Amino acid sequence: MKTIYKTTIITLSLFLMTVLFVACSSTKDKYTDASDDDFKIEKSGAQLWGETCNRCHLAPSPTDYNDTDWDTIALHMRVRANISKDDIEKIREFLKSAN
Ligand code: HEC
Repeated sequence: MKTIYKTTIITLSLFLMTVLFVACSSTKDKYTDASDDDFKIEKSGAQLWGETCNRCHLAPSPTDYNDTDWDTIALHMRVRANISKDDIEKIREFLKSAN
């Protein structure tokens, strides 16, 4: 009788541990499926201008140049500072909209 009691306890414990193990595992993929891109915060042209164009010299004010000049300068600084196409487009749009 005593052996049966022990065996039952051990079997039940093993069963519970298995249930717990299965229940606590493999939920990661289901609930954290979002990639980093989903949480990427888009920066505005003004933000990028403030951060990027101040790195090497004081960021020029949008009113310092006209639209045509900004096109040329954007290309020049894109090459000079290795700025991504998306970022320079946003900065250029901002500079042209604020001059
Ligand atoms: C990697 C450093 C660096 C960064 C970042 C940078 N510049 Fe420049 N910039 C320069 C240097 C160096 C010059 C001097 C001209 C030259 O040698 O190319 C210059 C010159 C300029 C000039 C003078 C006119 C011209 O075209 O030469 C303007 C205007 C200018 N930068 C605007 C900007 C703007 C707007 C940004 C942000 C998009 C920016 N810069 C980011 C390095 C930088």
